[in-house]
Amino acid sequence: MNILGIDTSCDDTSAAVVADGTRILSSIVSSQTDIHTKYGGIVPELASRRHIEMIWPVVDEALQRAGLTLGMVDAMAVCHGPGLIGSLLVGCGFAKAAAYSVQKPLVGVNHLEGHVFSVFLEAQGPEFPFLSLIVSGGHTSIYLVTGFGQYEELGRTRDDAAGEAYDKVSKLLGLGYPGGPVIDRLAEAGDSKGFDFPRAYLPDSLDFSFSGLKTAVRNVVVKSRGVETADEWLADIAASFQAAVLDVLVRKVEWAVVNKGVRGVALSGGVSANRGLRRKMQEMADERDVQLYLPSMALCTDNAAMIAAAGYHRYKAGHIAGMDLNPRAHLPL
Ligand code: KG4
Ligand code: ZN
Repeated sequence: MNILGIDTSCDDTSAAVVADGTRILSSIVSSQTDIHTKYGGIVPELASRRHIEMIWPVVDEALQRAGLTLGMVDAMAVCHGPGLIGSLLVGCGFAKAAAYSVQKPLVGVNHLEGHVFSVFLEAQGPEFPFLSLIVSGGHTSIYLVTGFGQYEELGRTRDDAAGEAYDKVSKLLGLGYPGGPVIDRLAEAGDSKGFDFPRAYLPDSLDFSFSGLKTAVRNVVVKSRGVETADEWLADIAASFQAAVLDVLVRKVEWAVVNKGVRGVALSGGVSANRGLRRKMQEMADERDVQLYLPSMALCTDNAAMIAAAGYHRYKAGHIAGMDLNPRAHLPL
């Protein structure tokens, strides 16, 4: 069964065709980084406009690479939230029109459910129950996943998402948007003990908080104004900031592993592309004797293959959307 997936929740226009919820026939992502980078973050109005320009070429390319036409897919799955409302509107409007025009079933998929499903697109997917850490620009949450469609949120960020903290710190340091990849690279060359940044462990809770860390970095940057700084200084800030983020992410997942007694942990979302996080989480998994499931780099950040994969299971469960499917900026999993 071939599902066409569409995601326009944030700043990437993406479309993919996935067979039977596991096999990627095509996956196209059109990035808008060039538009937003000079503003140090996503400008929602510009994102929606670019989605309108790109949606048909991206879907067309995904279909062509899969060797299909719109009328040949078995169903369509579209992300209807959470995300930027103007961006979501473009994908939802397009998907409804496309499904109606060729009389195919349409499924609405929660973006976070898509991230959870990204690991099922790898050769070896996890078995239930497992823990899913979603770490992206918009979310940082730990879920206990006991089956398809069965998610219990164990903790979430109380302020900034981890990716958002990366992006804000990157802006503070004048390193542009998105901040994750550049800080990840810089951190490899820096001393992670160069600065003693705070870790908000929030005992007795699996929640996260990254805003204090961001403020601590800002204080260092403000103090340095007018003082000549070397490249090493920047690398040390990046490494120390990253160490503070990763320590908390890994520790919280470890607590959840112990609390829930699960044997598997899956990561997803843009920050799961972070090399340091992948390494440290693997060390923790080895120590605790649990299996770690990591999406390949292309499946960490936003993509439509994960939407098609989740859409397949929604379709199987009979969750067909009507033409009244509306996007929602806030949509809990
Ligand atoms: O999942 P995603 O593509 O979009 C959202 O749903 O938010 O995640 C984007 C986020 C951005 O904040 C970006 O800075 C971060 O993921 N990111 C990274 C890395 N690559 C992307 N953060 C840390 N290290 C990376 N290598
Ligand atoms: Zn995402």
